[in-house]
Amino acid sequence: MGTDLDELLKSLRVWDLPELPRFDPRDAPADPRELFTSWFGDAVAAGQVEPHTMSLATADTDGLPDVRIVMLHGVDERGWLFASHSTSRKGRQLAALPYAALAFYWPSRARQVRVRGPVRTLDAQEARADLGARSTGALAAALVGRQSEPLTTYEELARASATAWERAAAEPDAAVPSWALYALDPREVEFFQGDTERRHVRLRYVREGDGWTQELLWP
Ligand SMILES: Cc1cc2nc3c(=O)[nH]c(=O)nc-3n(C[C@H](O)[C@H](O)[C@H](O)COP(=O)(O)O)c2cc1C
Repeated sequence: MGTDLDELLKSLRVWDLPELPRFDPRDAPADPRELFTSWFGDAVAAGQVEPHTMSLATADTDGLPDVRIVMLHGVDERGWLFASHSTSRKGRQLAALPYAALAFYWPSRARQVRVRGPVRTLDAQEARADLGARSTGALAAALVGRQSEPLTTYEELARASATAWERAAAEPDAAVPSWALYALDPREVEFFQGDTERRHVRLRYVREGDGWTQELLWP
């Protein structure tokens, strides 16, 4: 198994695109949200699969890191928004240590974006409205709840899910008390543009008061 994996790993490449985008940091806007929005649009236009998924890293109270994929729900003056159950493992970690990091990777553009900062739980009404704007499936999944709890059998989930789908269809405004919308307030945002010669461009924005400073980093 090890050899197969080794061979596969050796056969794979990154930054193997016919042409990589050029990124001149001297043209970067003053606000990283503007650059994020522009890179996000480029990723969508390039046909990047699921560009709105991101790794969300949190830590537990022992300082041990944790990470999983979540969906981006928006970017506004409050920061990068995502939603989950406050009772889940990540929800409990965020309640105890409200600080997180995000990473996006868009291979079709050889680009990575990293965001770090404190996390705030937004108002429950806004969380419910955000869920309401999504699909019946999203509501059914939220209604199942119990995220991150041990599950005895898969059949137990299937039964709970079937009930939740019925309820979601019949009661589109059903309350989901554990559903939370979070905003990661950016203190640092880093943009990475891959380069075939490995002269990758790394531009880091650091928040200072109401504005941002920019600096380049060695790759
Ligand atoms: C593509 C993708 C998107 C996901 N989006 C979310 C999401 O927006 N919110 C969420 O709670 N979990 C989402 N998940 C599930 C999480 O990765 C994770 O399994 C779950 O939130 C439990 O994490 P926790 O035990 O660390 O709390 C998604 C998973 C994948 C693969």
